[in-house]
Amino acid sequence: MADGFSSEMFEDSSFDATARVVDSGSDADERTVEAALRPRRLSEFTGQARVRDQLSLVLEAARRRGTPPDHVLLSGPPGLGKTTLAMLIGTELERPIRITSGPAIQHAGDLAAVLSSLMEGEVLFLDEIHRMSRSAEEMLYLAMEDFRVDVIVGKGPGATAIPLELPAFTVVGATTRAGLLPAPLRDRFGFTGHLDFYAADDLVVILERSARLLDVQADTEGIAEIARRSRGTPRIANRLLRRVRDWAQVHGRQVVDEEAAHAALALFDVDDRGLDRLDRAVLDSLCRRFGGGPVGLSTLAVAVGEEADTVETVAEPFLVREGFITRTPRGRAATALAWSHLGLAPPAGHAAQPSLPLDTGEGRFGG
Ligand SMILES: Nc1ncnc2c1ncn2[C@@H]1O[C@H](COP(=O)(O)OP(=O)(O)OP(=O)(O)O)[C@@H](O)[C@H]1O
Ligand SMILES: [Mg+2]
Repeated sequence: MADGFSSEMFEDSSFDATARVVDSGSDADERTVEAALRPRRLSEFTGQARVRDQLSLVLEAARRRGTPPDHVLLSGPPGLGKTTLAMLIGTELERPIRITSGPAIQHAGDLAAVLSSLMEGEVLFLDEIHRMSRSAEEMLYLAMEDFRVDVIVGKGPGATAIPLELPAFTVVGATTRAGLLPAPLRDRFGFTGHLDFYAADDLVVILERSARLLDVQADTEGIAEIARRSRGTPRIANRLLRRVRDWAQVHGRQVVDEEAAHAALALFDVDDRGLDRLDRAVLDSLCRRFGGGPVGLSTLAVAVGEEADTVETVAEPFLVREGFITRTPRGRAATALAWSHLGLAPPAGHAAQPSLPLDTGEGRFGG
């Protein structure tokens, strides 16, 4: 590193100059820190006021009736609090929570094993629910609606389905891709909460709490600067706070202030709109290689060297929301803002493209 510091200087050893500070880190350190920073009560959950109020109503009503609440689906881009809310549902109901995920359920039998061991009123958290296998999905419809699974015994013409009654339970599903869930599955959730990017004010509150918990001294300007450049995402805000803390520490500063925020965020390639390297790579390809588009998602993904799914779920929602790109029937297109952000002039005749809605799965719930 330029400063000549070794990585041992960083107490959580998560420093890696080549890694994106904002990708969904999954190393053990990262998970431990995330777990430590997760709000413990719904009342500590900042922002997303509408989803939080709706959810607390659903939970309170169920508590008064003494029955498990309706199944809950949480959707939205990575790092906005889906897992956090799922955990809070268990805590608020004072019920045990069983955690599994779509990729872990490849066969209907995997799901049958989980379902048949559930206790009355238990919360079953199914993360990445859009990645479950088709056969498991079909078993889940029945289980969610009738609290029953059909266990198939034998093979071929002699096979018989033996119905197995299940105790009442609540499924909490989380997905970054609500649009990929088949309609019959979506319809079985009594409540859907779509999480949206956070306002900078909410991120300030979240960062102040995290700074307290991490024992980091930060001033108002420092916090505000990190909040403003966190892509509206609590996970990124918390991660940037730790990187700015690292910078301050290494430079012998007691306090995370605006100067530390500027220096650290520049070092980690977070620009003044909060865009990271992937975001800028997408804009850059779109403008420089494809003349502003429209260009298909998979072509764009190849150009930036990422999976189409990553471009679509990680980079695109924020870029669309901030008005840098639009989704058109013929692909992704750069807006005038994208051109000016890159310091380029749009080509002559560049016109705004009509935009399609993002993949939130909303509008298909009939409510
Ligand atoms: N409203 C909030 N208030 C405080 N902290 C939050 C809030 N939402 C998220 N966080 C913090 O952000 C981190 C990421 O949140 P979480 O793991 O719930 O995101 P997610 O939506 O499940 O992401 P993914 O799609 O990648 O699984 C957590 O460590 C949590 O502490
Ligand atoms: Mg999660």
